[in-house]
Amino acid sequence: MTSTIKLFMPLLPILRYPDSRLKKIAVPISLIDDRIRKLASDMAETMYEAPGIGLAATQVDVHKQLIVIDASETRDQLLVLINPELIECNGAQVSEEGCLSVPGIYDKVERAERVVVRYLDLHGSPQKIAAEGLLAVCLQHEMDHLKGKVFVEHLSSLKQTRIKAKLLKQSRITA
Ligand code: NI
Repeated sequence: MTSTIKLFMPLLPILRYPDSRLKKIAVPISLIDDRIRKLASDMAETMYEAPGIGLAATQVDVHKQLIVIDASETRDQLLVLINPELIECNGAQVSEEGCLSVPGIYDKVERAERVVVRYLDLHGSPQKIAAEGLLAVCLQHEMDHLKGKVFVEHLSSLKQTRIKAKLLKQSRITA
């Protein structure tokens, strides 16, 4: 509806597919200290600014199990999940996904329809979230990042090759 001229770069630089650092496996966070709290708040700011509905630490080249998500329409339901673990998943849904690390590319991916995820909040307290629809997709997408997996890896190898070529070409132009 409105077009906004972007004056600021996102706060944290986001790795772009096919950067090999997106393949790193994130390690669990054992101590939730000020550095982790600062990382979570910088990631949230970066996600809102981008704008996106989720961001995994992997995407900002920090290989720790931390994700931020806000899949609400009002953009005021920030979730910070530390060491998230999928403990239940049911059903299937196919929806179009995109990713801040794969700019301009959207494609259909099949995911579980409903999930339950266990995680630690910023106070180190164990939490559980049951989600369906978009939030469930977002949780699965971000948790994939922590395992070194980008959503395009759910697509055919032909599509992956095309996407890689397209993004490499773009990065040569903008570099
Ligand atoms: Ni992503």
